[in-house]
Amino acid sequence: MTITFVGHGYVGLVTACVFADLGNEVYVIGHTTEKLNKLKNGDPIIYEPGLQEVLKRNLDSKRLHFTNSYEAVNKSEVVFIAVGTPPKPSGEADLSTVLEVAQQIGKNLGNHYTVVSCKSTVPVGTNRKIEAIIKEVVKTADFDVASVPEFLREGSALKDTFEPDRIVIGANNEKATNLLLKLHEGLTGERVTGTLESAELIKYAANSILATKISFANLIALLSEKVGANVEEVLTGIGLDRRIGNIFLSPGVGYGGSCFPKDVMALTHIGTTLGVDMGLLHGVTDINLAIKDLFYEKIKATAPDKNIGVWGLSFKPDTDDIREAPAFYVIGKLLEDDYQITAYDPEATENVKRLLRDKISYSDSAADAAKDKDALIIFTEWNEFKQFDLNELKKLLKKPVIIDGRNIYEPKKMKDMGFTYASVGRKTT
Ligand code: UDX
Repeated sequence: MTITFVGHGYVGLVTACVFADLGNEVYVIGHTTEKLNKLKNGDPIIYEPGLQEVLKRNLDSKRLHFTNSYEAVNKSEVVFIAVGTPPKPSGEADLSTVLEVAQQIGKNLGNHYTVVSCKSTVPVGTNRKIEAIIKEVVKTADFDVASVPEFLREGSALKDTFEPDRIVIGANNEKATNLLLKLHEGLTGERVTGTLESAELIKYAANSILATKISFANLIALLSEKVGANVEEVLTGIGLDRRIGNIFLSPGVGYGGSCFPKDVMALTHIGTTLGVDMGLLHGVTDINLAIKDLFYEKIKATAPDKNIGVWGLSFKPDTDDIREAPAFYVIGKLLEDDYQITAYDPEATENVKRLLRDKISYSDSAADAAKDKDALIIFTEWNEFKQFDLNELKKLLKKPVIIDGRNIYEPKKMKDMGFTYASVGRKTT
């Protein structure tokens, strides 16, 4: 098929590359010349394992095209909207870009049947708005709208797109659904088809329940510390019940990224405006904030001397993304307390430099960030931290103090090695 994506962020770019790899002719529309030129030259702009190879392969095969022109729309059978929906201060999703894009698509639809599919995470009802906008622009066009939410995770985006657990397709009629089922034929995973509204709600509900699991794990971590339990033991004890499961139940310094914080707030806003008591999700967001504040308090209590090293800045491993990264929030508070911070992250340093500039120092290696420091703080569980030689780490640090926000080491081992080791939901040793 010939298909077009509007937007080349994580969702647009990765999904476009995957559909090109499956043999489709894929156009990707963007508006920043510099970014488009990089993409045309095989630079994926974002750090995502494996993406560069798939991008290059499909550029070479001439199945993947980057453009700033909406002309590609008129030769496409399916047009995906994959642009951002950032939160407004109220938590409500900002739909201005999505609706603008809908207008442009309307103006450029071809003379044949097209399905305009929204991959952006949008409140229930948005696809009907998109439909209305397009109908206003072109009275006679032969098109349907569909909601095809995306569930890929940064860091494993390609695998998640090639082998998803499920593909959700919400549409008004069978014609649109069947065309999208055909497009997705090369991918594994269960198919879930339904109404536009169901598909729109599935995306918010999925992210919200995952965020709820994490906040629940963090709440139990907090209680574990109070009662002298070990949160890892507690969560293993409940996660082995197959009705609960132990995936996505790791406590830490809170969830970040471009989806969970935004989508939980957006669903809270949707419910509240409909008169539904959204207390459950308010609680999820509140715990996520409290857990970061408590981690900051833990740093202050465990590391009163203020020349500290930081490992990990991205909101999770295997990405350079720092949006809503817990590290960023906590570092901001530590700076207000005059901590001197030297940070190392395998991929995210450049992004942090753009925002924090010389407010903190940056290291090229984990060892350098730890050298001569009064304490080491771990915000992100990159593999290279898990595998770091702890004897060397002890020699590097001025004081053997580690505050670990991701529970990557064993407290007993750390105690035996002579570290002061504070983690999450476990006794400081
Ligand atoms: C998420 C969803 O998983 C994905 O399906 C959706 O399409 C987009 O949002 P992503 O934001 O890339 O993906 O990352 P994810 O792996 O879900 O992690 C989100 C945050 O939760 C990270 O900050 C991570 O550190 C945190 N997390 C995750 C925990 O604190 N504990 C866990 O057990 C799992």
